[in-house]
Amino acid sequence: MKIEMHAESKTYPIYLERGILKKAKEYIGRSGKVFLISDDGVPEQWRNLLQKQYPSASMYVFKNGEASKNFDTLQDILKAMQKAHVSRKDSVIALGGGVVGDMAGFASAIYMRGIPYINIPTTSLSQIDSSIGGKTAIDFNGVKNCVGAFWQPDMVLVDPEVLTTLTPRHFHNGLAEAVKEGLIKDEKLFEIFERDDYADHIDEIIARCLNIKKNVVEHDEKETGERKLLNFGHTYGHGLESYFGMDGYYHGECVGLGMLKILNNKEIKDRLVKVLERLQLPVTCEYDADAVFQLMMNDKKADHDHISIVQVDEIGNGYVEDWSNEKIRERL
Ligand SMILES: NC(=O)c1ccc[n+]([C@@H]2O[C@H](COP(=O)([O-])OP(=O)(O)OC[C@H]3O[C@@H](n4cnc5c(N)ncnc54)[C@H](O)[C@@H]3O)[C@@H](O)[C@H]2O)c1
Ligand SMILES: [Zn+2]
Repeated sequence: MKIEMHAESKTYPIYLERGILKKAKEYIGRSGKVFLISDDGVPEQWRNLLQKQYPSASMYVFKNGEASKNFDTLQDILKAMQKAHVSRKDSVIALGGGVVGDMAGFASAIYMRGIPYINIPTTSLSQIDSSIGGKTAIDFNGVKNCVGAFWQPDMVLVDPEVLTTLTPRHFHNGLAEAVKEGLIKDEKLFEIFERDDYADHIDEIIARCLNIKKNVVEHDEKETGERKLLNFGHTYGHGLESYFGMDGYYHGECVGLGMLKILNNKEIKDRLVKVLERLQLPVTCEYDADAVFQLMMNDKKADHDHISIVQVDEIGNGYVEDWSNEKIRERL
């Protein structure tokens, strides 16, 4: 399947196909040098599949995990690119989850004022969500995604086969973003998760999510309006993620908890609890409310005395509204 993303800055294809990684070069087909970026948590079998197609290309592999999403790793990547004589005619290929995509995308955005990059997402989270849309960033000074750029990829290659090596926890973590997309935009997508055989529908889940994200990003690339919908569950989610730290809950797990915190509608909330439980995602957690609130106030989406949140009263129809800081605090 091919989806064309018409972003303001660029139009690019997203290919969703089983087995596409082993023929990535045929799709990418460019003349300049390529510089490969991955992390050491991406199984060697997938890294080798790409490296074999580009035997003379350098592959920079950094230590996996959110803790690497910082200035030090960014600098190391930029140094390695310089050492490999990467020029403006060349391209970066990112092979990995959201951390690799965000890091490689940001490095591409700033190296020589911007060079092209191709994203090959390898986690459910990155295939469903982070690989398209052009948001790239690193964490800074304790604030997630604080320093970054909007920089669209030239192409995205999504191969659901690589998900077979993911741990069940990471697999389900990514699916939390799909549940979110179902709640804000696509009732049929949400209903897939109300069945026990949801995992057999992973290709359809990814396709539906990519189409939702494409439509939202095409209308509002820089997140001044509709794109905010994708932040459903993220206001509390980011606060909890910062609170629990790198070794606590994963991003999608916090988004799940964040959606439960924000929902007003009891019936939807009950359905969501059942879905999250089926996906082995947490539905409750213990925390210090003042500390989480403080972290939420530090988040870049907090704007003076109110915060834009996303609410869902009817599945498939999310909307944005402003909540005062007091109201946000009360829910914690
Ligand atoms: N740019 C965006 O729009 C956007 C959107 C959502 C999230 N994000 C970011 O994405 C990041 C989270 O992404 P993630 O959940 O993919 O985490 P991740 O990139 O850390 O990947 C999770 C783990 O899985 C390993 N891995 C990757 N592919 C694998 C495979 N096929 N088999 C086995 N293991 C594999 C990784 O090495 C890592 O250890 C966060 O930093 C978040 O801020 C960005
Ligand atoms: Zn998210």
